[in-house]
Amino acid sequence: MSDVLPPVLEIVGRIPLQGEVRISGAKNSALVILTGTLLCGEDCHIRNVPRLMDVESMMEILTFFGLKIQRQGDTLDVDARHITQSSAPYELVSKLRASFFAIGPLLARLGVARVPLPGGCAIGARPVDLHVRGLREMGAHVHIEHGVVHAVVPGSSRRLKGAKIYLDFPSVGATETLMMAATLAEGDTTIENAAQEPEVVDLANFCRAMGAKIRGAGTNTIQIVGVPRLHAVDWSIVPDRIEAGTFLVAGAITQSEISIFPVVPDHLTAVVAKLEEMGHRIVQDGLNRLRIVPTDCPQAVDIETLPFPGFPTDMQAQFLALMTLAEGNSVVTETVFENRMRHVAELKRMGANIRLRGNNALISGVPLLSGAPVMSSDLRASAALVLAGLAAEGKTLVQGLHHLDRGYDRLDRKLQGLGAQIRRLETPEELAHIPQLALKEI
Ligand code: EPU
Repeated sequence: MSDVLPPVLEIVGRIPLQGEVRISGAKNSALVILTGTLLCGEDCHIRNVPRLMDVESMMEILTFFGLKIQRQGDTLDVDARHITQSSAPYELVSKLRASFFAIGPLLARLGVARVPLPGGCAIGARPVDLHVRGLREMGAHVHIEHGVVHAVVPGSSRRLKGAKIYLDFPSVGATETLMMAATLAEGDTTIENAAQEPEVVDLANFCRAMGAKIRGAGTNTIQIVGVPRLHAVDWSIVPDRIEAGTFLVAGAITQSEISIFPVVPDHLTAVVAKLEEMGHRIVQDGLNRLRIVPTDCPQAVDIETLPFPGFPTDMQAQFLALMTLAEGNSVVTETVFENRMRHVAELKRMGANIRLRGNNALISGVPLLSGAPVMSSDLRASAALVLAGLAAEGKTLVQGLHHLDRGYDRLDRKLQGLGAQIRRLETPEELAHIPQLALKEI
């Protein structure tokens, strides 16, 4: 066993922040667009790719499939001419659920794909039945054996057939998998009750830039007319609305005026509405810049997570942290994932007054949180703990940083740029006196 201790984020709270933050490309767009390069028989030039562990893991998986990828700064050059593998190894897929989405483009391009079931993760069981059902409707023979999904397109053409697909739930991943699969299918596909998230639209636009025929992305009905092949593309990933929302909450929780740029304001409607309902002002300075002008008397508001354009589940933990310091009582309800409340116990260790009733958190605002050693349970939970630490009295030590590094592009450095007192403790000397926490099993 390695005796290298994992890094810890030390935050000294109650320091006012100020300035502007540059928002990176969207994690969930970048990941699925990277799987989308499997559809292309030529070169893909992808800009504004965030620096994240999840992107590194996705690059590792695509390289395993035979793609050649080079990174220069925030740009990735992907040569997708030759796919040499149609099976993904479990060690790689289990690191990153989004890699399962590769099953759609692999099947569309090669007529065969073997991808292990990703399994559950910290926030829920996360089945892939909707992906599998849709691929079957497009003519694939799919069976699951020893934890691996085996999919084959019968017939000599090896092309999937267009189909009319209804999703029981507007799953982001299933919409993306099936939309990618349909781009190279024979005939027309309609996806009803499709996810409308901006990342689905970014993927659709990326595929269209390669020559795919897709209409309706961003609505609940997406229509795709299959084409035989797709061509080279130069694409820039949309700004990350969840990173943007996290910085707006950083402004709100520290009562600091912060500008975020670049953003697509329409992607943040629900988040902005809830901040305004609390009493904060969100000012749009130009096309793609937002500024929070915080109130010093934030009111508690209720939140329920929903598929887009509803309030995003990926902002639930950060808002829950914000509500712990608001005036009055609020209810935060998680409806998308069944187990996405593990940050509650850690926030309570910082003095928050929260009662958990299933997937409802009943919060009574307190005047102050107090810094404490806390443990991250998943990506957005780790962001919530950082935000709470920024507002808490004294020092907060956030552990489990691998979660944060999976999905936030240098969050600590960006916060430092706003004046936060936040630093990574990494050396044995720095870590010597830090209690090593373990997340309690449930
Ligand atoms: N679901 C099914 N069957 C399926 C697919 C989904 O029952 O075949 C259920 C899930 O179990 C879940 C719900 O549907 O309860 C929503 O899942 P969805 O498929 O929409 O989520 P996803 O595609 O797995 C993406 C993001 C998540 C984000 C969700 C919801 C990526 C790589 N991940 O996941 O991002 O929370 O959409 O918006 O795009 C994050 O960034 O922190 C994150 C978890």
